[in-house]
Amino acid sequence: MKHRFRSRSFFALGKLLAILGPLLLIFYTFLYNPPCNEPSSDMLSPIVVKLSNSTETVNYPTNISHIKFVLVGCTKTWLTRRPYTEAWWRPNQTRGNIFMDSPPPKEFLPWPKTSPPFQLNTDATKLPVYPKLANPIEARIFRSVLDSFSLGDNQGVRWFVMADDDTVFFIDNLVQVLAKYDHTKQYYVGMHSESVISNFLFAFDMAYGGAGYALSYSLVEQLAPLMNDCLERYPFMHTSDHLTSSCLFDLGVALTLERGIHQIDLLGDISGMISAHPQVPIVTLHHFDNIDPIFPNRNRTEAVKHLMKAAEIDQSRLAQQTICYEKPMNWSVSVSWGYSVHIYESIIPRSILKKPLETFKPWKNGPPPLYMFNTRLLTNDPCHTPHVFFMEHIRKLQGNSVVLTTYRRKAPRRQQPCFVPGNYSADNILRVRVFSNATVRKEAGKIDCCNVLHMAGMNVMNIKLRNCRKGEVIA
Ligand SMILES: *[C@@H]1O[C@H](CO)[C@@H](O)[C@H](O)[C@H]1NC(C)=O
Ligand SMILES: *[C@@H]1O[C@H](CO)[C@@H](O)[C@H](O)[C@H]1NC(C)=O
Ligand SMILES: *[C@@H]1O[C@H](CO)[C@@H](O)[C@H](O)[C@H]1NC(C)=O
Ligand SMILES: *[C@@H]1O[C@H](CO)[C@@H](O)[C@H](O)[C@H]1NC(C)=O
Ligand SMILES: *[C@@H]1O[C@H](CO)[C@@H](O)[C@H](O)[C@H]1NC(C)=O
Ligand SMILES: *[C@@H]1O[C@H](CO)[C@@H](O)[C@H](O)[C@H]1NC(C)=O
Ligand SMILES: *[C@@H]1O[C@H](CO)[C@@H](O)[C@H](O)[C@H]1NC(C)=O
Repeated sequence: MKHRFRSRSFFALGKLLAILGPLLLIFYTFLYNPPCNEPSSDMLSPIVVKLSNSTETVNYPTNISHIKFVLVGCTKTWLTRRPYTEAWWRPNQTRGNIFMDSPPPKEFLPWPKTSPPFQLNTDATKLPVYPKLANPIEARIFRSVLDSFSLGDNQGVRWFVMADDDTVFFIDNLVQVLAKYDHTKQYYVGMHSESVISNFLFAFDMAYGGAGYALSYSLVEQLAPLMNDCLERYPFMHTSDHLTSSCLFDLGVALTLERGIHQIDLLGDISGMISAHPQVPIVTLHHFDNIDPIFPNRNRTEAVKHLMKAAEIDQSRLAQQTICYEKPMNWSVSVSWGYSVHIYESIIPRSILKKPLETFKPWKNGPPPLYMFNTRLLTNDPCHTPHVFFMEHIRKLQGNSVVLTTYRRKAPRRQQPCFVPGNYSADNILRVRVFSNATVRKEAGKIDCCNVLHMAGMNVMNIKLRNCRKGEVIA
């Protein structure tokens, strides 16, 4: 009985793989446009794995110096991607390297101090398994964590954080998130894709590489010497993050999800998502070359730099959704701090406004549901179509105790007012000014509340963020 069951399930598995194999390949070709050529270096340097012998005290809270970044890019795409990396990299503070497939061409030299230090990956082409690999390029990317570990300079490192050259980090939030975990234990911290079909075809419980993921030092110490064996075991896998997750599962390590980490397997206008970010610190955004610029009237790099202006001042509130109501007008106001403001001409409870407006498209069409989160569809209903404002300016006021962010209307809404609660149009509002506390970070996981200070007829609306009162209902 048991045997028959097993052979039948093996047969089913074989059939499934036969169907999924080509699908994965097609999907892979759509999803990842591998930007890099195969590693061209012809020097096979022996891998020396240095075991840790660290004497540092564990009690000191995790800070930026405890994180070693393992960024992966290639010389071919570096020109367009460099601005995304430099937007968040902090020279002399952030540690780690950008790993590439070939030495930098002359026009990239001297390698700027504002970029992560350049490092050539070790050559994977001489590995016995290399000819058997379904997607040889990924071996280089996969082995970057091993390369980083073997480079040494691991003094005080608690976390290795992997990402692509088009990933943007919010480092203060990353530090805060990683500080929750004991780095002396084995941790694999990341996030799955937003797209159901990606997770179905790869894995629901794997950390997507471009979104960024963190491995604790003790985990890397154990994983590093086993990585080549892993390639031998999984030569048919198409992506480095899938390989990594498979190796880690074989070590008995499970993924710890952090919802502020974003792969962005989405297309088009992702403003709906950033305007209703989950109630956790935002840690990364990815895939900027595949989506529309995140701010109107700016190109992609300018848009990223613009968001970083807010990130430099207060990452604890960045993209955190705060909702309040202008009761005399029956309006709802939803602020995504440092990014956008939406005004609705009706009273909508927070339980609804926290669902992102589906301004974006899926990376790849599939049967519904498309996304791993609930969304609100765009409608023509004037009661549910917001007036949209995007951040324009940010500055500190009152002796640096208050931050003022100003949001400007993107475009006229061109709709009738919402009749149901009183026919009060918000068409004349051109700017929204949001005042927040500059000295105290918002507590992670907790929301702020707010008050609207608006006088009828004025074209500027003022909003003050404040702590929520005990038991305050936002509806
Ligand atoms: C760590 O260092 C101590 C002395 O500094 C040495 O006795 C010990 O063998 C080292 N451990 C490892 C694992 O290298
Ligand atoms: C980070 O922690 C280390 C101790 O591990 C400490 O020496 C260092 O000063 C801290 N750095 C910052 C920027 O807080
Ligand atoms: C980094 O440190 C070096 C020396 O410690 C200094 O010369 C350089 O200006 C610093 N760079 C930045 C960007 O702060
Ligand atoms: C984006 O805009 C800036 C400033 O206008 C410009 O310097 C840069 O070349 C533009 N980038 C692209 C990719 O068009
Ligand atoms: C707001 O809407 C409610 C219910 O829709 C209505 O009873 C109330 O009169 C409206 N308030 C104003 C000021 O129009
Ligand atoms: C609603 O207000 C607009 C002006 O804002 C006015 O033109 C329109 O007639 C009003 N509609 C109703 C049903 O009161
Ligand atoms: C910021 O928050 C702290 C703690 O809640 C409070 O003491 C301080 O007065 C606030 N500052 C402003 C300008 O509201």
